[in-house]
Amino acid sequence: MRLDKYLAQATGYSRKDVKRMLHSEEVSVNGEIERNAARHVSDEDEVVLDGYQIDTPRDRFIMLNKPEGYVCSHDEGSHPSVLGLVDIPRPENLTIAGRLDVDTTGLVLMSDDGQWCHRITSPRHKLGKVYEATLADPIDESYIKAFEKGIQLNGEKGLTKPAELEILDSHLARVVLFEGRYHQVKRMFAALGNRVDELHRLSIGPIELDEMLNPGEWRELSDEEVASILNG
Ligand code: URA
Repeated sequence: MRLDKYLAQATGYSRKDVKRMLHSEEVSVNGEIERNAARHVSDEDEVVLDGYQIDTPRDRFIMLNKPEGYVCSHDEGSHPSVLGLVDIPRPENLTIAGRLDVDTTGLVLMSDDGQWCHRITSPRHKLGKVYEATLADPIDESYIKAFEKGIQLNGEKGLTKPAELEILDSHLARVVLFEGRYHQVKRMFAALGNRVDELHRLSIGPIELDEMLNPGEWRELSDEEVASILNG
């Protein structure tokens, strides 16, 4: 991990503060003053700031039950960011793995570990994202084949990748996607002449939304949940 990230994560100081400390020679690595923010440090290195040894920081891995009305973005426009719901130091350091629309609810995963987040969003790893969609009009049996074959979305080059659709009720469906295009579920149903009224994400790959979490609540992932993404 880069030295500036290591220090910021372990101490709660901003990267800007950390850079200033490096510049004013307050940091040493293995007994030598270090000024290079990009220097790689690992568990074996002894990092000392202002005379205090700094323990290796742990990346944080979080699941949130996203309520309606929040954006999955670091920038707040007319709606607040989901990061404001996570009351930990420096939530802005978290990467959000797979965004949900402002009116979509359910499972959002976040971490300091950008590569872990990338495994979730990259279609190469084929992690299924499961949604429950409530439709304005009755769901036709023919949708199942259409989702399987792929659907041509407005303004996009290729068909959507094969997706799964299970009809749970006349207006309720469970959808499994293996990619993440902009407003994908809503646009797939729109292409079939229907409209999504409510959308809720239940799981991402092997990680399911914890039923104990009310909308707006979050918890840290277990070590097993974190590893399940890397093993998938
Ligand atoms: N598909 C959508 O249309 N919206 C979401 O928030 C997620 C998937």
